[in-house]
Amino acid sequence: MLILRKIAEVRQWVQEKKKQGLRVGLVPTMGYLHEGHLSLVRAARQENDLVVMSIFVNPLQFGPREDFATYPRDLARDADLAERAGVDMIFAPEGEEMYPYYPQDTTVQVARLAEGLCGVSRPGHFTGVATVVTKLFMIVLPERAYFGQKDYQQFLVIKRMAADLNMPIEVRMVPIKREADGLAMSSRNTYLSAEERRQAVCLVAALRLCKERFEQGENNSERLIKAMTARINREPAAQIDYIKICDADTLEEMSRIDRPVVVALAVYIGKTRLIDNMLLNTDVMKNV
Ligand code: PAF
Repeated sequence: MLILRKIAEVRQWVQEKKKQGLRVGLVPTMGYLHEGHLSLVRAARQENDLVVMSIFVNPLQFGPREDFATYPRDLARDADLAERAGVDMIFAPEGEEMYPYYPQDTTVQVARLAEGLCGVSRPGHFTGVATVVTKLFMIVLPERAYFGQKDYQQFLVIKRMAADLNMPIEVRMVPIKREADGLAMSSRNTYLSAEERRQAVCLVAALRLCKERFEQGENNSERLIKAMTARINREPAAQIDYIKICDADTLEEMSRIDRPVVVALAVYIGKTRLIDNMLLNTDVMKNV
């Protein structure tokens, strides 16, 4: 497995592979890999001849009081995991390689989809994501790119961006990977103390409660959100940022579940902000 640090080297490698008719799948990451990232690699392996993983902690998507400086980084560990999962090449640029002029003048902003949910408490975050993903797409020129469902809003933003800007890249979503107790895998889980880690299960517990109530016939969003809020508030370290039930395509808030929805939440556990989500009623279309 190759590790390339320079954009020119990546372009040359990709060009040679494309001349041979090989198709490239890209897995963009910020590193500190876990099973969630590796499931993206496995999905990419199935559909492409070559898998490229980018590892870059993108400063543009962090707010001034967020964890850019402390975000966990370990390229040697990541390279080992990536190689064993079947990555052919890692692109791991330095900050100056990606942003010779920082902040750069040109950014990519996706309106509407980026405004609600995490866009409220993380202004500018999705512009940072869309900008760096555009740059990665232009550097690697993949046929397909893979993103995790845990960042559902990010997936929708990138999919819309690719469609709006006619990028000839298929944007794929891979289901959430969970720990044995249900906590969604995230590089940020490493910030949790043992006690916080125990309490963090409240996110998935709330989502499962919502699913259970919905399956029992409750489709009123306010009542479902109230039940989820009560479940999360049982944990002393938990502070809710948001709990929303939204149209699964547009992210418009729904007062009732009468179509495919995403139940999405962001909760601080101590100082660590965690997100999770669940798609509900997704087979409604099949019943029409
Ligand atoms: O999901 C992530 O890890 C990041 O937001 C991404 C897509 C790699 C862009 O920096």
